[in-house]
Amino acid sequence: PRTLLIDTDTASDDAVALIMALRSPTVQVVAITIVAGNVSVEQGARNALFTAELCGSMVPVHIGASKPLLRELETAEWFHGLDGLSDHGYAPAHRTAETTHAVGAILAASHSHAGLEVITLGPLTNLAMALLRDPSLATRISRCVIMGGNPCCEGNVTPAAEFNIWVDPEAARIVFASGLPIQMIGWQLSRDEAVLDAKDIARVLALGTPLAEFAIRCNSTAASAFETQTGEQGISLPDPIAMAVLLEPALSLEASSHHVQIEVVSSLTRGMTVVDRLNVTSDQRNASVWASNNQAASKVEICWKLDVAGWK
Ligand code: BDR
Ligand code: CA
Repeated sequence: PRTLLIDTDTASDDAVALIMALRSPTVQVVAITIVAGNVSVEQGARNALFTAELCGSMVPVHIGASKPLLRELETAEWFHGLDGLSDHGYAPAHRTAETTHAVGAILAASHSHAGLEVITLGPLTNLAMALLRDPSLATRISRCVIMGGNPCCEGNVTPAAEFNIWVDPEAARIVFASGLPIQMIGWQLSRDEAVLDAKDIARVLALGTPLAEFAIRCNSTAASAFETQTGEQGISLPDPIAMAVLLEPALSLEASSHHVQIEVVSSLTRGMTVVDRLNVTSDQRNASVWASNNQAASKVEICWKLDVAGWK
């Protein structure tokens, strides 16, 4: 079976992505590692443990970096709620995180699971630390799906940068230069037709299960923030789109390989993912960039995954 490690700053859209993977028959999630990002690393761990419990999963959860490599942590409670899950007062899970640090867990999993796949749904601090400790890690990961950046250089946290890359650009630079087989899922794929609208939300709620209810409810603050930002109603779900791409190999056919570099010096464009889309340089193509504008397909894929993941 395919084995997967998920690195996440678990807040609302991360939680939906976790459900998709934990309920999927196509992958075995061997570990969840937590990084600081949307919320503190401790809160992210609480949210991941809660979500895993809802899924009936005992997957080990490992706490990792509490701040970016060189910068202060900037969180996004304004978008995800103070607890990252829209402040509905969810009770804590019945178990706690493992004692092994996330970096050790990533390295250990790469040794024990040949062909391990990794997906990152938050800042890249944990993965960068693991690569700094053991650069050969890059050769033991068969596929690394990264939810981050935007090949169109349009941002959601600054005009130039997407949140996950912007929070820890130095870590992103290390990861993109590491030789990992990267598949970059840009934030722009979660926009426009890919936003879950009222009809899609009703379709999920109609499943009438605790998981379906949780997936929508834990995104209520994100839905309000999205409406304030764009004037549109709906839920934008970047992490689930990345997870859909990981779970459904046919979707990755839309990608093409390019050289990608991360801006770390300029304060104006900090965290910009500079993608050589026309391959005007001879720099090595270090990432497969999923740049399809077929956003509706992504949305369909998400809803479909909700169904097949056993939410009924
Ligand atoms: C990313 O930032 C976070 O707010 C989301 O969880 C997602 O990983 C989108 O830019
Ligand atoms: Ca995330």
